[in-house]
Amino acid sequence: MNEKKQILELLWKNGIIATPSDVDKIIKNGGVSYALEMLTKKNNNEKNYEILKSRDVFDATAGKVESFKKLFQDRYSKIRKILQSRVSISSVVDIEYAKKNEGDVTIIGMILDKRESKFGYIFEIEDLSGSIVAFSDQNVGKEILPDDIIGIKGYVKNGKLTIKEITYPGIDNINKKEKIVESENGIVFLSDIHVGSKMFMKENFLRFLDWINSGKDHAKKIKYMVIAGDLVDGIGIYPNQEKDLELDDIYDQYNYLANLISKIRDDITIFMIPGNHDLVRVAEPQPALGNDIRSMFTNNVIFLSNPSYISIEGLKILIYHGSSLNDVIDLIKGMKLEMADRLMIELVKRRHLAPFYGKNVPIVPLNDDFMVMDEIPDIFVTGHIHVHKEFNYYGILLLNASTWQKQTEYQKMHNFNPNPCIVSIKYLNKQGFVNLEFK
Ligand SMILES: [Fe+2]
Repeated sequence: MNEKKQILELLWKNGIIATPSDVDKIIKNGGVSYALEMLTKKNNNEKNYEILKSRDVFDATAGKVESFKKLFQDRYSKIRKILQSRVSISSVVDIEYAKKNEGDVTIIGMILDKRESKFGYIFEIEDLSGSIVAFSDQNVGKEILPDDIIGIKGYVKNGKLTIKEITYPGIDNINKKEKIVESENGIVFLSDIHVGSKMFMKENFLRFLDWINSGKDHAKKIKYMVIAGDLVDGIGIYPNQEKDLELDDIYDQYNYLANLISKIRDDITIFMIPGNHDLVRVAEPQPALGNDIRSMFTNNVIFLSNPSYISIEGLKILIYHGSSLNDVIDLIKGMKLEMADRLMIELVKRRHLAPFYGKNVPIVPLNDDFMVMDEIPDIFVTGHIHVHKEFNYYGILLLNASTWQKQTEYQKMHNFNPNPCIVSIKYLNKQGFVNLEFK
């Protein structure tokens, strides 16, 4: 059998249909042995990761009031289920039932409205059965925000509720230890590359690519890369963006990025989600980038939605771009961009990635709420705010991955200094991250 035929057959048996130019390339690189090596790499990568939750498309809904009602009902039901697994939340009753009786109750409610009063706060709280007016003192009430879904213990009299104690869905196991697995491999995390911007730090990025390909230090152990959105700078994202752009065509921006990514050794599997600067709708959840963009990239790149859950060699990773982190800053007194870890904890506490409706993050009214944090991940990574921060929160590694864009005019105006060009590496058999700076 001639070599060409042999290679074609080998690939075909493994579910790969190759073109004549693909086969020529394989022969040039070493023929059958090269094809076998390629297949081993592919199979190894295939069995070592799993996409747990990601969508290429989301079913469209009419976007009417009714659609939002369905979304919030689904969010309520999912978070209620999480809350009901807490020991502190037992004997939960419906609000309509609670209103008709006098005495101690436990309800699970969504906060519709919050107002300050002379003695504390007045709330309107809703569940699937109805709504109730509730009161709290300053201490208990200050933490509660509109749209929160929480467990509430209190006392009902004359159809009104006095709140005594609240429970957030949060984490279910405070004794969880950081997970490590028996593997020499590593995952490198980065975010917010912003290719196409005049502020994209190309030299630094190339230095990082050189390092990852060099086999130096522990670079050769890296087998996976996770990029948490804002792959390119986009166009028309903010007023007068043109003056900040090096490349003013979005396809040129993705082509440029694809070229950079193609320099990375091909045994690294790369997971990418979009951010608010990318070529998908800005409303969340955002679907994975389309085929027009995917076709520009090498086939070791995997396109996922924002947000998505993946498992790498048994380590569960939640990837979310992070637009709602700005909401946390706006809504909670004292929160700042620099406190990325604390901002992320507020999302974990609510078990939702975009818990506040009508703020910085437009939400798509789907029948099922894709933004609920159904499961507690081992690693939770965000980007968006161009701050590098990591924290071990009850065994969950929180990471706001760094950026490759230097300070913009907008950031200068707001006196904000980003932390660019830092990569965080998680070696699967070691605790914590190793952070490397490419300045
Ligand atoms: Fe960004």
